[in-house]
Amino acid sequence: MERLDKLLASTGRWSRREAKALIQAGRVLVDGMPAKRGEDKADPSVSRILVDGAVLDWQAHTYIMLSKPAGLLTATEDARQKTVLDLLPDGLRRKGLFPVGRLDKDTEGLLLLTDDGELAHRLLSPKKHVDKVYYARLDQPLGPEDCAAFAAGITLAGGDVCRPADLRLLGDGREVLITLREGKFHQVKRMAASRGAAVLYLKRISMGPLTLDEALLPGGFRPLTPEEVAKIGGIT
Ligand code: URA
Repeated sequence: MERLDKLLASTGRWSRREAKALIQAGRVLVDGMPAKRGEDKADPSVSRILVDGAVLDWQAHTYIMLSKPAGLLTATEDARQKTVLDLLPDGLRRKGLFPVGRLDKDTEGLLLLTDDGELAHRLLSPKKHVDKVYYARLDQPLGPEDCAAFAAGITLAGGDVCRPADLRLLGDGREVLITLREGKFHQVKRMAASRGAAVLYLKRISMGPLTLDEALLPGGFRPLTPEEVAKIGGIT
């Protein structure tokens, strides 16, 4: 059961205040009966909810694939700087979406935005071993000995030990693909630094079964397809 004003607002069509006003005006029916107050509760998977005679287009959860551009914070809001949520139109911003995991301000690539807290927890839990693949360009080439060090588990400056990770060299080793199964602060940059290389450019390519849609330009976004939602174990 969910509050009616919250349910209506979760579609992104109305703000919470607008939803309350609709309800108080008697324009919202739950199983044929006009609702009275925003606080009234209903289960949209069981009850038929009509707004001005139209069935409420309710979804349990929303999942958005965003191609994060450099220069935005991975946060829901910030007093001074723009965040990835600023890329979304009002209707989507009202849904209470948050980013699943964090990319640095200068990192680009795949970011999942959702209102599904359970799914976010599953994708981020180190126990679930969800692979995150990054493409990086470095100022120095890495080599086979660095691949072995990544596989053995890198010790970061400060002593923190990483889980075994996969390092694949592209070309002369100045471009690499790195697969992590955890998410420490600045992890790719710190792992590369421990091998004497600085990251010049970083982009997340995939997260578990979800791969960045290369048709999305930086700053572009789209809903996950039903197939993608099923692959990550989401509920719509
Ligand atoms: N590792 C980093 O160093 N930065 C990111 O944004 C993601 C992984």
